[in-house]
Amino acid sequence: MPTPAPVILLGIESSCDETAAAVLVDGRVLSNVVAGQAVHAQWGGVVPELAGRAHQENIVPVVHQALQEAGVSPRDLSAVAFTQGPGLIGALLVGSCFARSMAHALGKPLIAVDHLKAHALAHFIEDGQQRPKPTFPFLNLTVSGGHTQFVVVRSATDMEVIGSTQDDAAGEAFDKGAKLLGLTYPGGPLVDKLAQQGDASRHVLTLPTMPGLQMSFSGLKTAFLHLVQRGTQVDPAFKSTEQAHLCAALQEAIVRILVKKTRTAVDLTCITQVAVSGGVSANSGLRAALADEAAERGWQLFVPPLAYCTDNGAMIAMAGHFMLATGQVAALDVVPKARLS
Ligand code: KG4
Ligand code: ZN
Repeated sequence: MPTPAPVILLGIESSCDETAAAVLVDGRVLSNVVAGQAVHAQWGGVVPELAGRAHQENIVPVVHQALQEAGVSPRDLSAVAFTQGPGLIGALLVGSCFARSMAHALGKPLIAVDHLKAHALAHFIEDGQQRPKPTFPFLNLTVSGGHTQFVVVRSATDMEVIGSTQDDAAGEAFDKGAKLLGLTYPGGPLVDKLAQQGDASRHVLTLPTMPGLQMSFSGLKTAFLHLVQRGTQVDPAFKSTEQAHLCAALQEAIVRILVKKTRTAVDLTCITQVAVSGGVSANSGLRAALADEAAERGWQLFVPPLAYCTDNGAMIAMAGHFMLATGQVAALDVVPKARLS
């Protein structure tokens, strides 16, 4: 029997503040290019208008670089996958218009990917490293700047959200806490770094009590604000002298909420293959705490390499690969959506 032709996917991501493109052949990464947007740092958060403009500037060079690094000509592609949503509409429009035009011009299938499902499929990206992959069904904790949710992943195309945050996302709690300390956006990675030099027990933050798999992070943000305000009243230099300890306390609180809820999710679903993905899964404290918990409770834990935790084109191409295999091809007039459900 002749060997089947390789499936070559271009994945384009533009939902927030990263313009990213990647080429995967049969799920294996040939290139993964991410252009961040430094323009938001001075504003303490993503400015949608500026994000859209930066995507417009970046999209052509980023896709070009991804194809070039992969040594793939556009004509060799099996399909073009892009992020349909959720995300900032002006940002999504850039990626979707580009992907639609490209698929149309090349006469290739177009695949409209759900960004959150793609995060949950990041575990399947092949990058040459020997890493165990989850089997279906598995439980995925998707923790990003905009979402925090538990998902039962029954197959690559069948997923059910069984619990989520009722207000802010975990990434927002990191970013807003960091902003309060005068750290630049995105604050998550900076809090992570500083927390490693801090003592989490010096400042205690009360954790919210939420039923079942519901989560909340906005109360934590307020508690952190009050903690910083109280400290600053006593010592005007509190923020800087206590910076590392405050970061450690904030991170500890977020991680404790996530780990506790993961325990609940495992108990409720009886699924012990636990996976975590999304930007916050890059957090060293969360990775360590989940690894300890998994070892203690006999779970199998799956955490993607850092490059596939935060937004990237490889996860979009990976999701596109699965969707193409099941014939989930979009019409050329498909539109992006800020919310998908
Ligand atoms: O998945 P992602 O790249 O974009 C969204 O889909 O939102 O997640 C971005 C979020 C930001 O809030 C960022 O601060 C957070 O992930 N993040 C981290 C770390 N790296 C990124 N949070 C904590 N620790 C990190 N190391
Ligand atoms: Zn994301």
